[in-house]
Amino acid sequence: MSCNIVVLASGSGSNLQAIMDQIADNKISGRISAVLCNRPEAYALERAKKAGIPTIVLDHKSFDSRPAFDKAMIEAIDPHKPELIVLAGFMRILTPEFCEHYLGRMINIHPALLPSYKGLNTHQRVLDAGESVHGCTVHFVTPDLDDGPNIIQAVVDVTSEDNAETLVNKVQQQEHIIYPQAVAWFAEGRIKMIDQRTTLDEKPLGETGYVVDSRT
Ligand code: GAR
Repeated sequence: MSCNIVVLASGSGSNLQAIMDQIADNKISGRISAVLCNRPEAYALERAKKAGIPTIVLDHKSFDSRPAFDKAMIEAIDPHKPELIVLAGFMRILTPEFCEHYLGRMINIHPALLPSYKGLNTHQRVLDAGESVHGCTVHFVTPDLDDGPNIIQAVVDVTSEDNAETLVNKVQQQEHIIYPQAVAWFAEGRIKMIDQRTTLDEKPLGETGYVVDSRT
């Protein structure tokens, strides 16, 4: 059985690319039936087109309100009958209605070790706070921003040499490992969201989710 996936992106789409590559290598038992972007200039659209995946552009600026935009997204997504929605750098706050509609079948990647550093500018905030560790998290999406149960986290170290740019690179390298992993688990039916917790192979994971520690 191949999991039917719709990906939502706003930018470069490097996470989309990592997932497409793993599907092409048969490491994910899934197929992407559409890529939806809210920015017409998003490079993610080019990546999808190159892979022969149908694209949908819904420019949020042409909608009067957030609920109207989210309703239009649901109307564009649902004909594809997705089993999984993957937010891959989708830089929009979603309405509770949208989140409820896809509850338990929508996942996101966030560039920080959630529940720490929700929101934007995570790399600079981590540097400003003098943290020695940082990372990224894949989590189920619930109506509260960056708050759904964690699935998998990757930890990287922060050294005195680091700046926001080096952290983007370090963290994104890990994103391209853990996001395809989470999608593969979902596609195989190994992860589920049950009572606000993630289970992996029917066992509840702790608050961090499954942890990949790449520090040497
Ligand atoms: C990723 O680093 C992802 O963690 C971040 O956007 C980037 C998208 O990169 N997401 C968020 O900040 C969500 N709040 P990509 O377009 O190259 O995949």
